[in-house]
Amino acid sequence: MRIEVRQTRPYPDQKPGTSGLRKKTRVFLENPNYLENFVQSIFDCLPDKAGKTLVLGGDGRYHNRKALQTIVKMALANGFGTLLVGQGGLLSTPAASHLIRKYHALGGIILSASHNPGGPDGDFGIKYNIDNGGPAPEKYTEAFYRRSREIDEYRIAVMDDIDLDTQGEHQIDGAILRIIDPVTDYAELMAQLFDFDRMRQALGSGKVSICFDAMHAVTGPYAKRILEDQLGAPEGSVINAVPLEDFGGGHPDPNLTYARELVERMYGPDAPTLGAASDGDGDRNMILGRGFFVTPSDSLALLAANAHRAPGYRDGLRGVARSMPTSRAVDRVADALGIPCYETPTGWKFFGNLLDAGKITLCGEESFGTGSDHVREKDGLWAVLFWLNIVVASGQEVATLVRDHWRRFGRNYYTRHDYEAIAAETGHAIMDDLRRKLPELPGQHFGSFTVEAADDFSYTDPVNGSVTTGQGIRILLEPEARLIFRLSGTGTEGATLRIYMERYEPDPTRLDLDTQETLTELIELAETLSQVKQRTGRDGPTVIT
Ligand code: G6P
Ligand code: ZN
Repeated sequence: MRIEVRQTRPYPDQKPGTSGLRKKTRVFLENPNYLENFVQSIFDCLPDKAGKTLVLGGDGRYHNRKALQTIVKMALANGFGTLLVGQGGLLSTPAASHLIRKYHALGGIILSASHNPGGPDGDFGIKYNIDNGGPAPEKYTEAFYRRSREIDEYRIAVMDDIDLDTQGEHQIDGAILRIIDPVTDYAELMAQLFDFDRMRQALGSGKVSICFDAMHAVTGPYAKRILEDQLGAPEGSVINAVPLEDFGGGHPDPNLTYARELVERMYGPDAPTLGAASDGDGDRNMILGRGFFVTPSDSLALLAANAHRAPGYRDGLRGVARSMPTSRAVDRVADALGIPCYETPTGWKFFGNLLDAGKITLCGEESFGTGSDHVREKDGLWAVLFWLNIVVASGQEVATLVRDHWRRFGRNYYTRHDYEAIAAETGHAIMDDLRRKLPELPGQHFGSFTVEAADDFSYTDPVNGSVTTGQGIRILLEPEARLIFRLSGTGTEGATLRIYMERYEPDPTRLDLDTQETLTELIELAETLSQVKQRTGRDGPTVIT
């Protein structure tokens, strides 16, 4: 193996966001060494990499294979001892997290822009996960960014491309390159957590049915193997199962807008018991029942309340956590269970310390992410299997489970309005103005609400004491409601303003109202406070979830 040290020039914009370095694919294609610079910056910040194991894979989007070839050669040139690469270049984000943990790797590189569209005109991304299997915390990503602004050379092995499609082990000058089946280890883990026997009986007998939409992204092979081959769901239960470089032209984001085929089925006459979808890299999930949508916040609360029904969680939960904008439905479950509930900033990385310290078992976000201490990422298929386990064990319909939950705990009506791709200055100006208004808000009356407290959310990590500030404007109202404003950390164009509205309803006769209608007053208050429509010239949000 000949190693070359090649000269390069730094880029000023390689700052990782909520979830790694995510850019338009063209940025990677058109700027020389854009990928190489960032990868070398990561490696330069890992002093103990010699002889260590690195996990590599991606969600199969356009440029995945080519980028992987480069990264393999760079990893070899930088002295890693073992490379575990998903066959076909594929690894879902949660599967990569599991492999890092299981094989005691130093870390892993996952190529994905998650739920953003792929292709030459779409997005591409690269993220680094550390040895606990979770996304690199800020102290790492800051260091990568710092390094990327001064980097002047990178190391690469000069060799032929590797065969990504054949499983097997190769010795390369003392290093080991192993092309592994991307599904096997993950499927074994799932079989430990959930009652596969009972689920097999229910699916095999047709008592329970499922439609899983892989959206032509990475979960196709995982869902096919587990749901159809291992659990005996009839062939065709997994739709859009073949990963495609452009996700079939779709937007691999599991929500009511983009998972259209699934939604049509679930609201049609022959809807199966459970409907579900996952995103580009397999960490998000959407759950549907027959003609019924489960909000991610309610899903987290319901999983917490029913966790004991799954073998892996039979002994109870140590605690739960949710991101700040996620509805407070799970807080009530935690209260009832007598366990702690933590509120973290948006971004899965904030759950890592709580999971590592054994403070929580389950966690989730409103952005269609749910997970547990089994890995250090949110996990789409895991959430689906958890729901399937609960549906099978309870013998209940999804809608019945959720309505029973509301009757017991009350309902947190919840919606998020996104203003996507607005001018960055406008987005920041709106946030700055809101921040300025904060001190005068408490005590003010708006219609039937009174402001109880208002702040710019900051978080002190209870494990290491680190403080993260500026995580979103939070307005707490009486009677129990919240209004939250924040700028997305994952957009690739201008700024995306997210407005979250939540109202708690304890009245058992008022649990089936229309969400947008029942939140009208809060939606109007959001406009009064931010003037977002007027300032962006938009009629309304681009996406409502
Ligand atoms: C990614 C992260 C999540 C986060 C979501 C939305 O999926 O992994 O942790 O909740 O992005 O982030 P955003 O900053 O766009 O609201
Ligand atoms: Zn994702």
